[in-house]
Amino acid sequence: MLVLGIESSCDETGIAIYDSEAGLLAHALHSQIDTHRVHGGVVPELASRDHVNYLIPLMNDVLNQAALDKTTLDGIAYTAGPGLIGALLVGACFAKSLAYALNVPALGIHHLEAHLLAAKMETPSLEFPFIALLVSGGHCQLIEVKALGEYRLLGDTLDDAVGEAFDKTAKLMGIPYPGGPVLAALADQCETTPYRFPRPMTDRPGLDFSFSGLKTHSLTTWNQSAKDEKACSEIAKAFQLAVVDTLIIKCKRAVQESGCKRLVVAGGVGANKALRLALREWMTGIGGEIYFPALEYCTDNGAMVAYAGCLRMLNGEHDAIIGVDVKARWPLA
Ligand code: KG4
Ligand code: ZN
Repeated sequence: MLVLGIESSCDETGIAIYDSEAGLLAHALHSQIDTHRVHGGVVPELASRDHVNYLIPLMNDVLNQAALDKTTLDGIAYTAGPGLIGALLVGACFAKSLAYALNVPALGIHHLEAHLLAAKMETPSLEFPFIALLVSGGHCQLIEVKALGEYRLLGDTLDDAVGEAFDKTAKLMGIPYPGGPVLAALADQCETTPYRFPRPMTDRPGLDFSFSGLKTHSLTTWNQSAKDEKACSEIAKAFQLAVVDTLIIKCKRAVQESGCKRLVVAGGVGANKALRLALREWMTGIGGEIYFPALEYCTDNGAMVAYAGCLRMLNGEHDAIIGVDVKARWPLA
């Protein structure tokens, strides 16, 4: 089965073709970072308009890469939520019109499910069940993945998502949007820091997270510092150490609580090198298994949507032919 996958939930247009037999055949991505940077964050209306501009060129690009004609496609999968409503509508309208014209099924996919399954797309031998740590710009969750479509939420953030906390901490020190990866690189280059930031919500039981206090702590520390490059690097380091520690403490609890020693890390913050290193070290130490998608499949992309769509379409799932249904908010479990 050949499935075209379309991701347009936020500030990246991603398109890919996944073949149930041969795996991922092609994928292409357009990032809107340059469009939004001048505004200091994602402007929803600009995001929607940009998706309109890039969907057709990217589709033609993946069809060329795979040397396929669009009439050979067996289905169209698209992100139906959660995300920016206008951005989602652009992708969904395109997907449903294309499916209608080609007389093939379309299927709306949950963006977080696509993230969860990205590691399995790359490593098909990865078996259910597993624990997923989903860390992105919009989410910070621990989820028990029992089977395709069987998800139990173990823990969630009470305020900021972890990527959001990275981006906001970077912004308050003058690092342009999206500052998360830049802040992480500064932290990696800094050897030691005089600061020790709190590990939020680790002093009480449970698997929920809270990162807004850490951001405020960064602001207070920054305001009391010399506000120079050295202070910026040292705060980045202390912030990253606190985040990585906190995430690991909660992952340990999730493994203990569920008895499952197989962990998948998904979402944009899964690209964080310090997090990857620390999680791998811990998992190896306890004889467990850990999976990270390649960096390009950690952040938003069309391949994960094509893959999730293919799995579900092989089960016979599809949308109604007429009508477009997207959801800005949509709980996974
Ligand atoms: O999954 P994603 O591409 O988009 C969604 O939020 O759905 O995640 C983007 C987030 C941004 O907040 C970005 O700053 C963060 O992931 N991020 C990182 C790193 N690379 C991306 N945060 C920390 N360290 C990184 N290396
Ligand atoms: Zn995402």
